[in-house]
Amino acid sequence: MEDLSPKPGDLEPIETASRDEIAALQLTRMKWSLRHAYDNVPHYRAAFDAAGVHPDDLKSLSDLAKFPFTTKGDLRANYPFGMFAVPREQVARVHASSGTTGQPTVVGYTKADLDVWGTVVARSLRAAGLRPGHILHNAYGYGLFTGGLGIHLGADKLGLTTVPVSGGMTPRQVRLIEDFRADGITVTPSYALSILDEYAKQGLDPRKSPLKVGIFGAEPWTNAMRREIEDAFDMHAVDIYGLSEVIGPGVANECVESKDGLHIWEDHFYPEVINPETGEVLPDGELGELVFTSLTKQAFPIVRYRTRDLTRLMPGTARSMRRMEKITGRSDDMIILRGVNVFPTQIEEVLMQVRDLAPHFQIELHRKGRMDAMRVLCEACEGVGPSGREAAARDMSHRIKQTVGISVEIHVADPGGVTRSEGKAVRIVDNRPKGA
Ligand code: DLL
Repeated sequence: MEDLSPKPGDLEPIETASRDEIAALQLTRMKWSLRHAYDNVPHYRAAFDAAGVHPDDLKSLSDLAKFPFTTKGDLRANYPFGMFAVPREQVARVHASSGTTGQPTVVGYTKADLDVWGTVVARSLRAAGLRPGHILHNAYGYGLFTGGLGIHLGADKLGLTTVPVSGGMTPRQVRLIEDFRADGITVTPSYALSILDEYAKQGLDPRKSPLKVGIFGAEPWTNAMRREIEDAFDMHAVDIYGLSEVIGPGVANECVESKDGLHIWEDHFYPEVINPETGEVLPDGELGELVFTSLTKQAFPIVRYRTRDLTRLMPGTARSMRRMEKITGRSDDMIILRGVNVFPTQIEEVLMQVRDLAPHFQIELHRKGRMDAMRVLCEACEGVGPSGREAAARDMSHRIKQTVGISVEIHVADPGGVTRSEGKAVRIVDNRPKGA
């Protein structure tokens, strides 16, 4: 793999600023942001008033804990534009969640917000090792989803040659990576695996691909998956995190030279980790729910937004800004099976250790008698026959029992038998009777 570490002068000054400098900047910006939300968004005024707090009560960063949380429900209740803090004519762009599980949520950006977004995505792509002049194959979906257009903004800002391919038409993805000699790829890790399969279908060696780095996010993935992808493509794989409500991709990114968790771009997004049951702020290092407050956003300021993503905060390493550990999962995706908490990432971790199984999987929940039961649908590697599949299934269920502590049924399908996605993978299919 190529050395993509930054050279002197590559970074913005804030990336290596002292903690004191960062904290001072955060405090000034946080005061502005709370005041801006309170003055311009009826929801925040009502919520702060109901909690008996006022923006002037923020004297130090830790005072933020006095302010109320914001949830997805608050955003839905203010659909479509009720959370905007500027007149609608000043909103240059909107994005929205798909809304498959209810009312969609809409987010907005002024021209200045788009500029900030471009800056943090450019910083992320640079952290991943890309430099002006590199070619970026951007396979995140373009449209209301923030992935495609968000990465695109940052790629323009960094000075890359962007190939705005979006998701889908997998044979063409491989063709364009090869023909255009892409240096980097931005895509969900699950769709990267489909692209990998396509290399095999076309009889091409992915290790000979021009790719130097993949920047993977929008869904949880494990270090075990990182090793798998890095080895398959002979390229670096780094993690990018973000969510529409906070800005989109580019809230945090791993550095290619350290790959030790994601540096949060704390000059624009202030992180807290809380106990999801009590709402209490946890000290750095403890696992809990990630909460964000925007520090510079104009159109859609967000105060203490509960992401439902579980992680822990850690001190800076390659940059002075704090890191978050790779996301364990979303609290909504936590399966409770006979009293044991299980995340799809734990299943992924195990799957990567089992020979003869491909890295694709889906979890199916159903009811067996009066008990909830879990079946993991996996896929045999090419050329693995019935006895090899049986052995792999036994190995997989044994390892899950050992490490996660639950008994699951393993179903090994033919190669290609697990449903593929062109964006975020659907990891859990819940077939349990509703309301039972
Ligand atoms: O997924 C933004 C994005 C696009 C991030 C492209 C990275 C790359 P949403 O559709 O609003 O935005 O979904 C946000 O996706 O709360 C997490 O649950 C999950 N997620 C995003 N990045 C990661 C990651 C985009 N690196 C939701 N690891 C978040 C784990 C992630 N989960």
